[in-house]
Amino acid sequence: MKYINLEYNIPEASVIGIGCMRIGSKEKQDVEDIIHTALDCGINFFDHADIYGGGNSEKLFGEVLKDDPSLREKMVIQSKCGINKGMYDFSKGHIISSVEGILERLNIDYLDSLLLHRPDVLMDPKEVNEAFTELYESGKVRSFGVSNMNRFQMELLQSDLSYTLTANQLQLSLAHTPLIDEGINVNTGWDKGIVRASGTLEYLKQNNITLQTWSPLQFGMFRGIFIENEDYKELNDRLQTLADKYGVSKDTIAYNWLLRLPQKVQVIVCTTSPQRIENAAKAAEITLTAREWYDLYKAAGNRLP
Ligand SMILES: NC(=O)c1ccc[n+]([C@@H]2O[C@H](COP(=O)([O-])OP(=O)(O)OC[C@H]3O[C@@H](n4cnc5c(N)ncnc54)[C@H](OP(=O)(O)O)[C@@H]3O)[C@@H](O)[C@H]2O)c1
Repeated sequence: MKYINLEYNIPEASVIGIGCMRIGSKEKQDVEDIIHTALDCGINFFDHADIYGGGNSEKLFGEVLKDDPSLREKMVIQSKCGINKGMYDFSKGHIISSVEGILERLNIDYLDSLLLHRPDVLMDPKEVNEAFTELYESGKVRSFGVSNMNRFQMELLQSDLSYTLTANQLQLSLAHTPLIDEGINVNTGWDKGIVRASGTLEYLKQNNITLQTWSPLQFGMFRGIFIENEDYKELNDRLQTLADKYGVSKDTIAYNWLLRLPQKVQVIVCTTSPQRIENAAKAAEITLTAREWYDLYKAAGNRLP
C-alpha cells in the first residue's frame, strides 16, 4: 500500500480508501469483515457522510468500533456534512450539529477529516470559518476539505479560512472524465472541450491538494459500473489485456488508472466484497505506462484532438 499526507497533524492515509456509502443496509458482521479486510490490506482510510444510509452507515461502523475501540487508532476517518433535507447548508449551526451527530454515531471523539459535501450557493465563507475554528479548537475535527467544488469555489472559501483545504472529493472514473476531457480538448470546439470543471485538476496539483475520486467504476451518476458492461466492450477488452499483463483483475487496473494521475490521489472504492477490497489494494502496487493510460482513455470512447 502507498500512503499520502493529507495534513501534518493526522496519520498518513492510504491511497485506496473505503467508501462507506453502501454499508448501511449490511449486517454488522459484514461491516466488521469489510473493516478487517481493508486494514489487513493496508487500507486505513474510511470515507463516510452523515447522509449515507440515513445515518445508518456511520451507526453500523460505530457499533464495530464500540466492540473494539482499538481499531480507531489504526484508522484515518473522514465524514461529510452540508446536505440538509433537500438543500445545501453551510451555516455554522448546521455544520457543528452535523459533526456532533457524526461523532456520536461513529462512537469516536474526533474526525481526522471533514468535507463539505456539495457547494452551498448561499455560503458565507466567514461563517464556515467560525464553524471550522470551533470544531478544530474543541478537538472534534483535525482537518478540512470539500467535495464537488470547482477551483473558484475552493478559492472563494479558502480566502476566508484559517485552515488550508486538504482535499476535494470529485466524481472520476474511466467512464466519467469531464475533469480530464476539458484539459485534453482545450480550444477544439468539441463538446468534450467545454470547460465544466474550471481547471480544477490543475488547481489541485498546483496547491498539493488531494484529489479523492468517487464512484471509480461507475458511468453517469450511479447508472451502473462499466466492468463487464456490454456498452463498454472495448474498454473491458483493454482492461482484460492489461489485467493479464500485470497478473491482477480488471477493477485493479481501473483503480490504478486513477492513481496514475499526477495529483495526490486517493481512490474511494465502495465494494462490500472482501475479494474486491483485496483487488483494490493491489492497485497501489502497479504503475500503468503512459501509453497504457492513454489507450484506456481512448478505449472508454474518447478521442484525442
Ligand atoms: N462526495 C460525493 O458526492 C460522493 C458521491 C457518491 C459516492 N461518494 C463516495 O464514493 C464511494 C464510492 O462510490 P460508489 O459506490 O458509487 O463506487 P464504486 O466503487 O464505483 O461502485 C460500487 C458498486 O460497484 C460494485 N462493484 C465494485 N467492484 C465491482 C466489481 N469488480 N465487479 C462488479 N461490481 C463491483 C459494488 O458492489 P459490491 O459491493 O457487490 O462489490 C457496488 O455496488 C462511496 O462509498 C462514497 O464514499 C462520494
